[in-house]
Amino acid sequence: MDHSLQDHASYIGRPVSELPTPALILSKPVLERNTQILLEDVKQLGIEFRPHIKTLKCTEVTRMMLGDGLHRRIVASTLAEIRGSLDLVKEGKIDECLYGLPISASALPFLETLNKSLKIILMVDSEQQIDLLEAYAAKSSSPVVPWPVFIKIDVGSQRAGMTTHSPCLPRLIQRIESSSAATVYGFYCHAGHSYACRTEDAAAAVLQTEVEGVVEAAKVLVDGKNDRRIVVSVGSTPTAHVVKRLQGALPEGMELELHAGNYPANDLQQVATSLVEPTQQAVRILADVCSVYPDRNEALVNAGTIALSKETGEFPGFAVVVDRPQWSVVRMAQEHGILGWTESDQTSRLIEKTGSKSSDGEKVEAAFVVGDKVLLYIQHACITAAMHYAYYVVDEQDIVRETWVPWKGW
Ligand SMILES: Cc1ncc(COP(=O)(O)O)c(C=O)c1O
Repeated sequence: MDHSLQDHASYIGRPVSELPTPALILSKPVLERNTQILLEDVKQLGIEFRPHIKTLKCTEVTRMMLGDGLHRRIVASTLAEIRGSLDLVKEGKIDECLYGLPISASALPFLETLNKSLKIILMVDSEQQIDLLEAYAAKSSSPVVPWPVFIKIDVGSQRAGMTTHSPCLPRLIQRIESSSAATVYGFYCHAGHSYACRTEDAAAAVLQTEVEGVVEAAKVLVDGKNDRRIVVSVGSTPTAHVVKRLQGALPEGMELELHAGNYPANDLQQVATSLVEPTQQAVRILADVCSVYPDRNEALVNAGTIALSKETGEFPGFAVVVDRPQWSVVRMAQEHGILGWTESDQTSRLIEKTGSKSSDGEKVEAAFVVGDKVLLYIQHACITAAMHYAYYVVDEQDIVRETWVPWKGW
C-alpha cells in the first residue's frame, strides 16, 4: 500500500523537503491563478465553459475549474471521474457531464445508472454507436429516452471524430435524427494537435479551425429557418489560452462552449508552446538523490517511469530539475531516474525564467549529493498525476497546507 495514501494528512504543516518520495507537489496559488485566468476570459467573451476533469481528477480542482458552480457542465474521460464528481453534483455545483470517449458497450449500463444523478451526454462518431444505443434501448425495461449526443468532429488530430467533409457525417446526422435512442445535443472537437503550436498566432489559427469545423458541421441542423439550438464545443489547453482572440459571431441558433483540461496544472509540454510561463506549472515531483556517478556525470533519483511517465516533449528528457534546468531525467527504469546534463533552446528559456544554480558543463558531484531532494518539472501533468495516490498541496513557501486524494481507475 502506498504510504502517502494512508498518511498524507500527517504531513500538513511540514515543508516539502520533509515529504516521503516520490511525491506529487501541487501549488495551490498557481492552480488558483491558472483557473482564474480562464474563468475571466470566458466571462469577458460571454461564452459557456466545460472543464475537462481528467488531469487532476479530484473534487477540489474540479470545484476551482467550475468557479464553484459558476459553470455547471463538465467533461470526463472515465466513469471513475464521473463517480468522483457526484459529491459536487450533490452540492448542486454540476448539472451535466459529457462522457468524452466515443460510447462503448461496456460503459453504457454504468452511464445509464449515473444518468439518474446528473444529465449524461454521450460522444458519437460512427453510425454503429447508434446501432448500439438502439439495441441497448430495445433490451431495456424502462421507457426509451433519447441520449443527448455530441457528434465528434476531427479538426486535424486524427484521434476520435469525423472530418466535416466526410460523406459519413451527413449520414450519421441523419441516422441520429431518425433514431429514438439519440438526439443531437451538439458538435464537439478537441484540437490535440494544438500542442505542437509554438506561438500565439499558431494557436489562434488552430482555434479558428476548431470553430469553423464545428460550425460547418452544425449548419446542417441549424439553418436560421428553424428554432433548433445546438451547442458547438471547442478547445484544448493551447487554444483555450488564446480564446480571447476568437473573432466573429456565430450563426443564429448555435451556442459556443469552450472546453479545456490541462490548464490548471500546465507542464513542460505546455511551456514548450510558449503560451504559458514556466512558473505557471502547478505540478512538480519530489524525488531523492540516491546515488551520484562522477565517471559518467550522472545521478540517480527515485523517480522513474512509474512516478513520471514516459511522456517526452521539446524539453530534454522525461523531467527537468526545477532549480537546475540543465539537469534532466535522461533515462528511466521502473523506479529509477537518471539525471544527466542536457542543453537545448528550451532549457535556456527555463533558466532565464526560473534562475539556475548550475554553471555550464557542471560536474554531477558539484550539483548533487546523496540525500539531496530535487523537485522536477514533468512533461505531461495528465499522465504523471494519474500515477500518484495523494497530492501534497503547498502554499507559496512550499509548506504543505492540504492533501487531496484523486479518483483512480476507470
Ligand atoms: C475529448 C477531450 N476534450 C477535451 C480535452 C482537454 O484538452 P486539454 O487537456 O488540452 O485542455 C481532452 C484531452 O485529451 C479530450 O480528450
